[in-house]
Amino acid sequence: MPFFNREKDIKYLKAVLSGEPNLVYFVYGPINSGKTTLLLKVFEELPENYRVFYINFRWRYVEEVKDLIQVLFRVKGESEKLSVFLEKILKGGVELLGRLGGIPIPEEVFELLFRRTEKVEDVFAFLRDYFSIVVDKGYSPVLVIDEMQTIKEIINASGRPVIQELFNFLVGLTKESHLCHCLCATSDCLFIESIYTDARLEGRAKYILVDDLEKKEAFKAYEGFGFKNKEVVWKHIGGKLGDMVKLYEDLKAEIEEEKALGNMLKTEISRLSALLRSLRYAPLEVTIREKRFKVGYEDLLRALAVFKEKEKLKAEEIEEPVLIGGVKENLFFYNPVEGAVRLQSRLMWNAVNKVI
Ligand SMILES: Nc1ncnc2c1ncn2[C@@H]1O[C@H](COP(=O)(O)OP(=O)(O)OP(=O)(O)O)[C@@H](O)[C@H]1O
Ligand SMILES: [Mg+2]
Repeated sequence: MPFFNREKDIKYLKAVLSGEPNLVYFVYGPINSGKTTLLLKVFEELPENYRVFYINFRWRYVEEVKDLIQVLFRVKGESEKLSVFLEKILKGGVELLGRLGGIPIPEEVFELLFRRTEKVEDVFAFLRDYFSIVVDKGYSPVLVIDEMQTIKEIINASGRPVIQELFNFLVGLTKESHLCHCLCATSDCLFIESIYTDARLEGRAKYILVDDLEKKEAFKAYEGFGFKNKEVVWKHIGGKLGDMVKLYEDLKAEIEEEKALGNMLKTEISRLSALLRSLRYAPLEVTIREKRFKVGYEDLLRALAVFKEKEKLKAEEIEEPVLIGGVKENLFFYNPVEGAVRLQSRLMWNAVNKVI
């Protein structure tokens, strides 16, 4: 499969990881823009002494602290002292950790610490010690949490959101003790907004947008994918890498370029029409600070019609419940850092133009 080298983004992320850990980084962007792929690429190219601990909360449905522990850790063989265990594991290199996924610990430690604990504080205290050992052994740890939003609803035994504890932990690893680089990725822009406006994270976090490609870059990527009529492809799918991969797969299956693009648009139109149809009977329900709103067919139609004229809007230009509803239905991409809203993809923009 062709790979498009996002040089600028890779360079930036490498620079972020080259210094002392000071801030928690949130990598965000529209759906299928290539966030996860970009991160994994950067990790391959890190200096020899870096060790990446990659966790993806999509791996497992997390409902309570017990599940969280299962996602975080990967039990790896024998029972031995953590320090001896880490000595061996760390020597294994980037590759080994990458393939494992999760944070490797010996079975005995897992049993001892977690089989009976419900306390997320214990987990984080353990992890702080863990990363200290990694640093003492001369390595630079990088902790990566992908799809972090999936745990936003989980409540701790003490009644506090687990994610709050997780943020405190990450701030402790970066700004306070400079132990470990921390990167979190998500395509949930409402989640990013809630973090962005959280006073507790002000000055402790930074936001990196991994967006769909600009035209010039996209054309370079098209070249790699072997697309023929670049202007036509651009008109249909723009710079979304996820859509380029879909088109590429179709071409491989010997479907003609224009036909494949036409099919992609048809699918998108069906998705949009189905949503609009269902809204005629049951509106979306949106809650803003405990107040409930209904977003119906007409509301969404009005907002979508505005996008026909303008590709990008200021958040204030859309009624808040409609904005939230549209984001939840994956129609809109909202960038809270810029305060701007647009449709999730060029393909969706085309679908809107056909349907409305
Ligand atoms: N640089 C790239 N070159 C080629 N293909 C890519 C590149 N980046 C991403 N892709 C492809 O695009 C698709 C989406 O990528 P990826 O899963 O990394 O996006 P994402 O932004 O993490 O998505 P999500 O919003 O679901 O988290 C995948 O099929 C991936 O292989
Ligand atoms: Mg991803």
